[in-house]
Amino acid sequence: MTGTLLSVKDLNVVFRHGLKEIRAVNRVTFDMRRRETLVMAGESGSGKTVTSLAICGLLPEGAASVSGSARFAGEELIGMPEAQLRAFRGRRIAYIFQEPSSFLNPVYSIGEQIAEAVRLHHGAGRAAALREAVKLLEMSGISDAQRAARSYPHQLSGGMNQRAAISMALACRPELLIADEPTTSLDMTTEAEIIKLLMRLKQEAGFSLLFITHNLAIAEHIADKVAVMFKGELVEYREKEELFASPEHAHTKELLAAYEKVGKF
Ligand SMILES: Nc1ncnc2c1ncn2[C@@H]1O[C@H](COP(=O)(O)OP(=O)(O)OP(=O)(O)O)[C@@H](O)[C@H]1O
Ligand SMILES: [Mg+2]
Repeated sequence: MTGTLLSVKDLNVVFRHGLKEIRAVNRVTFDMRRRETLVMAGESGSGKTVTSLAICGLLPEGAASVSGSARFAGEELIGMPEAQLRAFRGRRIAYIFQEPSSFLNPVYSIGEQIAEAVRLHHGAGRAAALREAVKLLEMSGISDAQRAARSYPHQLSGGMNQRAAISMALACRPELLIADEPTTSLDMTTEAEIIKLLMRLKQEAGFSLLFITHNLAIAEHIADKVAVMFKGELVEYREKEELFASPEHAHTKELLAAYEKVGKF
């Protein structure tokens, strides 16, 4: 399965608060092939999250006006009615957020939550869905998956919760996984483990990965292509090797300088 999976063209997002207008995303254009890893980097506030949310139709209605095009497997997502979008989001496109706690529900066990995702997507019975949940947790590198499945989010570490969140995202066997700074809240060792895990799962499951980060060190490890955002615009978008060998935009150079200070992880 090769070919273009996602094609974003001239994507714009404008927020309006009263008379104030924020152009958060400006004419952003990029493509993703099947199985490709695109790392989107850029300073805080540059529009990375808003770009990814706009593609999935997750921006607050009313406050944000979205224009341009985002075609997924040939179908236009921008302007698609919510009911139809649900056939894509959480099914063909999955999303992992920075803080797993922001979408893990504190009152249900990890196993129940993943099983619910499995049931939603495959219509499995309760017991079969729970077995699948444990399998997904195992796949995500959790050694005592039975025990983790019985645990509640507050009983697990940040790294374990992020593994659980990844398991939940994978329950739908997505074609595109969007990971928005999924390791920012973790220590460096756990961060490296989670990134290795994502790359292994990607190898096995064959999804395309849009990975959002501040840290170009991560791009060097995992990216095929890198997209650099700056003040709402995509200022540099190239094959990783080219970008690292001869960065063109001043902001890319800044990010690379910061990376050298942080060192390889
Ligand atoms: N709901 C909103 N209403 C108004 N402005 C918003 C909203 N969400 C985001 N913005 C603005 O859009 C711009 C882009 O924000 P975005 O969250 O995409 O940045 P980011 O690159 O993801 O930053 P970070 O690395 O800190 O996550 C910012 O100026 C932000 O203030
Ligand atoms: Mg963000």
